Amino acid sequence: MRQTPDLSHFWMPFTANKNFKAAPRLLKAAKGMYYTSTDDRQILDGCAGLWCVNAGHGREEITQAMIEQINMLDYAPGFQMGHPIAFEAAQAVAEFMPDGINKIFFTNSGSESVDTALKIALAYHRANGEPTRSRLIGRERGYHGVGFGGISVGGISPNRKTFSNSLLPQVDHLPHTHHLEHNAYSKGQPAWGAHLADELENIIALHDASTIAAVIVEPIAGSTGVLIPPKGYLERLREITRKHGILLIFDEVITGFGRLGTATASEYFGITPDLITLAKGLSNAAVPVGAVAARESIYNAIVNGSAGGIELFHGYTYSGHPLSAAAVKATLELYKKARIFENAKAMSGMFEQAAHALKGFPHVLDIRNLGLVAGVELKPRTGAPGARAAEVFQKCYEQGVLLRYTGDIIAISPPLIINEEQIGHIFNVLGNVLKQVD
Ligand SMILES: Cc1ncc(COP(=O)(O)O)c(C=O)c1O
Repeated sequence: MRQTPDLSHFWMPFTANKNFKAAPRLLKAAKGMYYTSTDDRQILDGCAGLWCVNAGHGREEITQAMIEQINMLDYAPGFQMGHPIAFEAAQAVAEFMPDGINKIFFTNSGSESVDTALKIALAYHRANGEPTRSRLIGRERGYHGVGFGGISVGGISPNRKTFSNSLLPQVDHLPHTHHLEHNAYSKGQPAWGAHLADELENIIALHDASTIAAVIVEPIAGSTGVLIPPKGYLERLREITRKHGILLIFDEVITGFGRLGTATASEYFGITPDLITLAKGLSNAAVPVGAVAARESIYNAIVNGSAGGIELFHGYTYSGHPLSAAAVKATLELYKKARIFENAKAMSGMFEQAAHALKGFPHVLDIRNLGLVAGVELKPRTGAPGARAAEVFQKCYEQGVLLRYTGDIIAISPPLIINEEQIGHIFNVLGNVLKQVD
C-alpha cells in the first residue's frame, strides 16, 4: 500500500476538489485492461482512462519507442527547424485519415487542436479572398475542450457561464439531436432527427453564407453523454456546408482511432469533412499530443497563397515534439499490427447486447451505443441532478469498475482490446449497482 501524498497543492481539473480530497480515489499503476489503485485493488478500466487509452495500458511498443527517441533527441525547435520523426509521424497520421485529408498540424491536446482548426478555417477563407467569413457554428451539448475558441463553439452551459463575457463573438449553435421522446433505446444510429441538421439552413439564411467560416461538431458527442447522430444527419450537414462554401470540422478527439471499429468516425459514416481534430487515442494517451488533419486544398490555399515568409502565424513550442512524435508513430503502428480496430468491431455486437440488457433496470431512462461506446441515462433525483450517477460511479469504482459520468448519464468506452468476459463484467457490475442505489 502506498502512502497518500499531501493532496493540498494540486488544483485538480474538472474535479470537485474538496470532495475528492476528503475521499480520494488514487490509481498508481496500469496494465492492459486494469488499473491498480493505491489500496492495491484491480480496477477494470471501463472508460479507457478518459476515452484515450485505446490499445490498453502500458504498451511496451509505445514505451520503448519513446525511451529510444528521448535518449537520441530530447527536443529540437519546431519553428524554422525540423527533426525527422515529426515528419514521419505526420505521414503516419495522414495514412489513417480519409482520402484528401493529408496535412497534419501537431498540437498538445484536444483543446489546442480545436482552437487550431478554428484558426485554420479563418485563415483559409482569408487566403481564399473571403475574409468576411468569420462566423463559427457549434452545437448545443457539444464539447470542444476548454480554450476560448472551444468553449465558445461548445454547448455546455457550466463551461461557458463563468467566462460568458469573454467568449468569441459571432458564434451560433445548432440544436442538439438528443430527444428521448423520439430516440430512446436506439441501437446504433437513431432513425429520428436528420431534419435537425436543416436548422443550419436557417442560421445561414439569418447571417448569410458569406459571413460563415465553419461548422464544428463531434460526430458522436462524447462528453455530454454519448449522443449518437441520427441516420442521415451528418450527411445533411455535409451537403449544406458544401453547398454554401462553409468548412465542416469533425471533432474526432474521442472517435479518432478505432472507437467505432474504423480509424475515424468520418470513415465509419463515409463522410469526409474538411478538417479533423485529433488527440487522446493519437498516442494511446502515453504522452500529451493532438493534431489537426486538414484537406490538402486548405493547406495549399494558405501555404501556396501566401506571398512569402511564415504562412500561418500559429504553433506551439511542442508541436511535433520528438517524444510525442515517437509515441504517435509507435501507437499507429501498434493499432495496425495488433488489429485493435478489428477487435473493437468484433466486440461491438456483444457490447450493444450487454448494454441494452440493462433496459428495465432501476432508474434507467435510455441506453444508446455505437461501436465501443455506450451511454446509460438515469432518471435524476428530484432536486439533485447528477447525484444518482455520481453514486453509481462511486459504487462501481468500489466494486472494481471505472466508468465516467456526466450529469445523470453513465458513459462506457473501454479500451478497444476488451474481450467478451470483461464486457459482461462491466455491465453486470453496473446492473448490480443500479439495483443498490436509490
Ligand atoms: C470532442 C472533444 N474535443 C476536445 C476535447 C479536449 O481535449 P483535451 O482535454 O485534450 O484538451 C475533448 C476532451 O474530452 C473532446 O472529447
